[in-house]
Amino acid sequence: PAIEFGLDAPFTVEYHDSLPSTNARARELPTEGATDVAVVADEQTGGRGRLDRGWVSPPGGIWLSVLCRPDLPPAHAPILTLAAAVAATETAREAGVDARIKWPNDLLVPGTDGDQKLAGILTEMEGEADRVSWVVIGIGINVGVEDLPAGATGLLAHTESVDRRRFVQRLLERFDALRTDPERVIGAWREHALTIGQRVRVETPTDEIVGEAVDVEFPGSLVVETDDGPIRVHAGDCEHLRPA
Ligand code: BTN
Repeated sequence: PAIEFGLDAPFTVEYHDSLPSTNARARELPTEGATDVAVVADEQTGGRGRLDRGWVSPPGGIWLSVLCRPDLPPAHAPILTLAAAVAATETAREAGVDARIKWPNDLLVPGTDGDQKLAGILTEMEGEADRVSWVVIGIGINVGVEDLPAGATGLLAHTESVDRRRFVQRLLERFDALRTDPERVIGAWREHALTIGQRVRVETPTDEIVGEAVDVEFPGSLVVETDDGPIRVHAGDCEHLRPA
């Protein structure tokens, strides 16, 4: 399959014309003993988003899941999601698209009628208390602009053409370099962030936090300056983040 997709990437690339979900496929691989595999599909028929939502995945998009087995405690795994967000953002920017990151891991393109969602990331993992067993990072990047949900945009709305093979290759190269370099991830994340400096309202399963988003900290927490002082919100706890 790696040959079929024609990539010289730091991951074994498994390409499918159509899959229910690249995340679901990648999750099957650890039992087969595999690691460092990227599953790519032209189309997903049951794409999944965060918070049990669906993810519209028509043919021609970039639907990709990366399986790795990092030597990390589960609490540090969010840094890998941030690494993927940085890798996708820098690759989109290289393609001439003004992508920015909305915490924790949405890619947006600012526009005159508001920010539009270019990409989303869904990370799933399994592990013991002290060590991750495997992580699957699913990255969905809209390319075409037809059949997208309201508020979404695709690369082709902002650039003339997209070479998806090259895009995936560059993204994987960047992710490979970043996955062992948390300091660079946080630094690059800050540089591309849309959220820092904004007044936000963050909903978690138990709380609503309102204040100015002032920073992001390892392994991916947002620091919100509230009337009662700074609060650190874990990436996995964010149900909604809205301007306040
Ligand atoms: C979000 O809700 O913003 C996350 C969307 C993640 C979509 C990607 S597409 C590739 C991978 N396979 C899936 O089923 N979902 C992720």
